[in-house]
Amino acid sequence: MGKFQVINHPLIQHKLTIIRDKRTGTKYFREVVNEIARLLAYEVSREMPVEDIEIETPLIKSTQKQLSGKKVVIVPILRAGLGMVDGMLDLIPAAKVGHVGMYRDHETMEPVEYFIKLPSDLPDRQLLVVDPMLATGGSAVAAIDALKKRGATNIKFVCLVAAPEGVKVLQDAHPDVDIYSASLDDKLNENGYILPGLGDAGDRLFGTL
Ligand code: PRP
Ligand code: URA
Repeated sequence: MGKFQVINHPLIQHKLTIIRDKRTGTKYFREVVNEIARLLAYEVSREMPVEDIEIETPLIKSTQKQLSGKKVVIVPILRAGLGMVDGMLDLIPAAKVGHVGMYRDHETMEPVEYFIKLPSDLPDRQLLVVDPMLATGGSAVAAIDALKKRGATNIKFVCLVAAPEGVKVLQDAHPDVDIYSASLDDKLNENGYILPGLGDAGDRLFGTL
């Protein structure tokens, strides 16, 4: 079973409260989503492998560390995942960015794939799939299905707000995928919205309410 980790750092908790508040407008919402994504990137990258490298400081030869291992690809699930990309890139600037377009049919709540564009050599890369919301889990599972079908083997999922229902669905479908979230909320309502949640993340990010 992949691990599920809530990153409940005080700065993240404070910023989450800002984006949960319905009075927060699009500009501020977008800024704070990116700030939280940046803080999450710090935690998600904590276990990145490092290797020894010989360098010379101005004073002496020395063995130091540098990042090794697989190259990172950030994969936002469109649209709302786009809101987390710049924040993640702030900490992992050399990452490539792939896109998976997935929307949730409002009647059936089933995810529908409408776009996919990814870098090559997926098996050799570490993918960080990002989406602010893990609600029923349908979108995350379908996006990760699509990535695995194209050869991805190393995937982590990073979100801001997760519902227990979605965590279970994702862990059952993809037990190899570790999940990182800024919060574990209470439950879903009858329309599949997370409670207390923050509403429709895509609409609040892009001002399409
Ligand atoms: C939202 C959100 C997730 C999905 C989560 O996207 O960004 O992708 O819903 O719900 P689920 O876990 O029940 O699948 P939405 O479908 O509203 O599309 P958008 O990003 O274009 O707004
Ligand atoms: N998608 C959202 O944007 N918000 C929710 O609460 C659930 C799904």
